[in-house]
Amino acid sequence: MAGAMTATVRRFDTLDALSRAAADELGELIRAAVAARGTCSIALSGGSTPERLFRLLAQRGRRDVPWEHVDLWWGDERPVPPDHAESNYRMAREALIEPLGLDAARVHRIAAELEPETAARSYETALVTALGSPPTFDIVLLGLGPDGHTASLFPDSPALDDTTRWVVANPVTSPLVHGASTRTTLTAPVINAARHVRFLVAGADKATALAQVLEGSPDPRHYPAQLVAPRAGDLAWLIDDTAAAKLRGAA
Ligand code: 6PG
Repeated sequence: MAGAMTATVRRFDTLDALSRAAADELGELIRAAVAARGTCSIALSGGSTPERLFRLLAQRGRRDVPWEHVDLWWGDERPVPPDHAESNYRMAREALIEPLGLDAARVHRIAAELEPETAARSYETALVTALGSPPTFDIVLLGLGPDGHTASLFPDSPALDDTTRWVVANPVTSPLVHGASTRTTLTAPVINAARHVRFLVAGADKATALAQVLEGSPDPRHYPAQLVAPRAGDLAWLIDDTAAAKLRGAA
């Protein structure tokens, strides 16, 4: 794995408690980034786990977090239009962006309604223009699939081997994508260039994958989340008790 950084694992009894802690820390990280560099760029994760976090951040309003200096990006997107029920952008728009009234100019979604390669190329160009090469995020949020995938880096998918591009159209075959799909995703080198990487993992269906990723032998082809090892940034896992059930010492 890329970095020597040991990961911090923070365990919570419920997804709600996990999400509250994540909202607290995210606020701190955003304030620190804005104080240091005048801006904060975050790659949001998709799926269902982060929704509670997004809604908590929205409930807390703009008083404690300088959202006017935050740029929102995504770690990956499904090949659907932005108003589709499965769109990662749509979930964030409804749970976070609209409730907080965030500036559309600072919301950089993946144009996943386009042909996947076109979507990947245009997103990569926007990322490099804004964040350099490799694009350096302040914060990358990630989830974990029950098969060990993260972002749209799925087991045995071509994107796992791509060390030269920052965004790719990744053909995926998995029951988790209803058979076959081509998803747009950040590659591991971009995730590992970030200053702060945070996994949010909840649910019993993640327990086996989480134990393999954190405690199993290195096997990133089958457990792509093992590719996440920030070169210089810090990595933390926020997990709930049900996802932690198969970790050693889980009693
Ligand atoms: C996506 C996500 C994906 C997600 C995991 C966990 O587009 O689905 O980026 O990597 O984080 O699949 O999803 P849940 O939070 O829904 O379990």
